[in-house]
Amino acid sequence: MKAIKRLLPVPQLNVFNNSWMLEGIEQYSCSSDAILNENSNDAVHLFFPDKLIEKAEIFLNIFSDRCLYAIKANPHPAVLKTLWHAGMRSFDVASLREIKKVFALFPTAKLYFMHPVKSRQAIREAYSLGVRTFAFDHIDELNKIREETDFARDIDLMLRISVNRKGAAYSLDGKFGANREDAIELLQQARSFSSKLGVCFHVGSQCMRPQAFYEAIHDVSQIIDAANIEIDILDVGGGFPVDYPDLAAPPINLYFSEINKAIKECGMEQLEILCEPGRALVAESCAVAARIELRKGRELFINDGVYGSLFDAGIMNWTYPVEKLEISGMPSTELTDDFKLFGPSCDSCDVMEGPFKLPSDVSEGDWVIFYNLGAYGYAMQSQFNGFHSDTLVAITENRNIIGAKNRAMAPVIHTV
Ligand SMILES: Cc1ncc(COP(=O)(O)O)c(C=O)c1O
Repeated sequence: MKAIKRLLPVPQLNVFNNSWMLEGIEQYSCSSDAILNENSNDAVHLFFPDKLIEKAEIFLNIFSDRCLYAIKANPHPAVLKTLWHAGMRSFDVASLREIKKVFALFPTAKLYFMHPVKSRQAIREAYSLGVRTFAFDHIDELNKIREETDFARDIDLMLRISVNRKGAAYSLDGKFGANREDAIELLQQARSFSSKLGVCFHVGSQCMRPQAFYEAIHDVSQIIDAANIEIDILDVGGGFPVDYPDLAAPPINLYFSEINKAIKECGMEQLEILCEPGRALVAESCAVAARIELRKGRELFINDGVYGSLFDAGIMNWTYPVEKLEISGMPSTELTDDFKLFGPSCDSCDVMEGPFKLPSDVSEGDWVIFYNLGAYGYAMQSQFNGFHSDTLVAITENRNIIGAKNRAMAPVIHTV
């Protein structure tokens, strides 16, 4: 990649250990040891830090500190610390709580407040805490940001533009983003109020078409030309996909090359290029183990569901890669059946139609692992009906050496 390149070196430190990033987290060498030892009544989140570091490196190698982790995807402290350990220094935040959470862990982090609709209190407090980048998609929000920062001159404003490009499994159309006419006017108005002015968009989550990024960049480029002003930042958002059954993601490099191609064609090479991945960074780094509490024919009642970490399995009807955890004793039959799953709450909408393919002899007490559930799984859990899981354990083959080569966190920053 030529147009998007690392601008700041990732911190290089000689010494690292994982005691800080996995502080307070039990570590096991395999999932079955974890389930046996935890003896949990709730589902268990299995965290694979090596996988997270591997994914972070892919994005950091391309975008460097201009890769903002969208913390909504998974805000668990172990996930955040592991990302920091991997070199992630910038974060896309949507709320005051997210801001406080990140600053409490990493006082020197760079935060981008990318929710286009914020409360006045949140803007004021974010600014006082040191946030300088704010998104907007309407004149009233722009005025709100100006007023609540006391007309500060050191703020960067990011206009969210609606791009409506097809290809996302999880469309984010219709809620945020200025249309073309409004965007032209808003850019002209915001120019003189911003230290740096940028545009951002989101092609939708789990975007299966790399070309959607190419088309979106061309769309926003035309708007910038029509506004006849200079901008400083192009933020291509999140939406990068991962593999799920029935949703095989194109290689990530195709996305990067479509972005690169569009940037070159639109003459945007001199801009700061940001991205805001959530799902693509964390999805593969966590799995959820849930226990079967009752079997009724091909229906399994498990201790996690739509109000827990399986929202997308229920509401979006996504099927995650699943397997029965072989804990001990006889291995399962190789015969499989299609199962429908029910979550633990009393609601009849707490159902995951699937079908989920599992050994035909699964029964009460067996644990089933849902892979690729690191994004919008742990993050989406509610406490409805008293069911949720606080238990997250790390699965590390080697307890002392976890990827990340020599990218350790600076101890001076991380004595939390
Ligand atoms: C503003 C913004 N940025 C980034 C993301 C992360 O998107 P994804 O998880 O699809 O990469 C989202 C997701 O909703 C978002 O709303």
